[in-house]
Amino acid sequence: MPEIAYVNGKFLPLEQATVSVEDRGYQFADAVYEVVRTYRGRPFGLDEHLARLFRSLAAIQLEHHLDDGQLKSLINEAIQRGGFPETLVYIQISRGVAKRHRGVPDSYEPVFVMTVRELPDTRHIREHGITIVTVPDNRWGRCDIKSVGLLPNVLAYQTAHQAGANDAVFVEADGTINEATAANIFIIHRGRLLTPPEGPKILSGITRGNILDAARAAGIPAAERRITRTELLCADEAFLSSTTAEVVPILSVDGQKIGTGSLSLRIYEQFTKKFSSA
Ligand SMILES: Cc1ncc(COP(=O)(O)O)c(C=O)c1O
Repeated sequence: MPEIAYVNGKFLPLEQATVSVEDRGYQFADAVYEVVRTYRGRPFGLDEHLARLFRSLAAIQLEHHLDDGQLKSLINEAIQRGGFPETLVYIQISRGVAKRHRGVPDSYEPVFVMTVRELPDTRHIREHGITIVTVPDNRWGRCDIKSVGLLPNVLAYQTAHQAGANDAVFVEADGTINEATAANIFIIHRGRLLTPPEGPKILSGITRGNILDAARAAGIPAAERRITRTELLCADEAFLSSTTAEVVPILSVDGQKIGTGSLSLRIYEQFTKKFSSA
């Protein structure tokens, strides 16, 4: 099945899709993005993903003419055209093409890009878990915006790999943990599910929100509050959450083992009810 792309109004084979070298997304990371997946061929959490996309666009004052209904039908068309058993749709909107200058142009035409691929199989990491290292959180102060400026995430992920681990979790100087390089983090402490609160230090993950709902529906107490590295190291269980990988158990942090257990699995099973019943 060929991978496809959509660039400013046209579907075409991925390898033929191009944008200008003067695109501000390329020059300045002046762009935001979203990643939507399907379950049973249908996009999951589309309302929430689009609401977050509109929040990101508004936060960087990127003016556009996109609307919710139009985006929904484009995404559904992309999924149909791709024809994959399960699909991953990547959407990126930049502030368009302009002569390279940091000033926002008086007028611009946003560049809207989608890529449509088969959803990668993440069952292995979900079943086997991953190891993580902690790294200083040297990102900017608006991690709630889904910006394409991800160099600190790239470098933190590389640090993890060079240390023989699978991923990195960002930690502040005072020991506060925020999130992983492309996922939110949860711990289980004495039967309670804990995750860092929404705010500028984390991306408000769509999976994160659904997991909190799932835990509460299963009668597991859940709270959004500051978590420290020490608490992570002493957690009964810990996991990461994201659209593509769903729920991934953390086996160790900085070489120190963490328990793997039944509560994370129960939460994951409750979470899967959200799309298996849809
Ligand atoms: C930094 C970061 N945090 C959290 C997430 C998880 O968000 P979601 O569950 O919406 O995929 C992502 C996903 O890409 C991310 O990049």
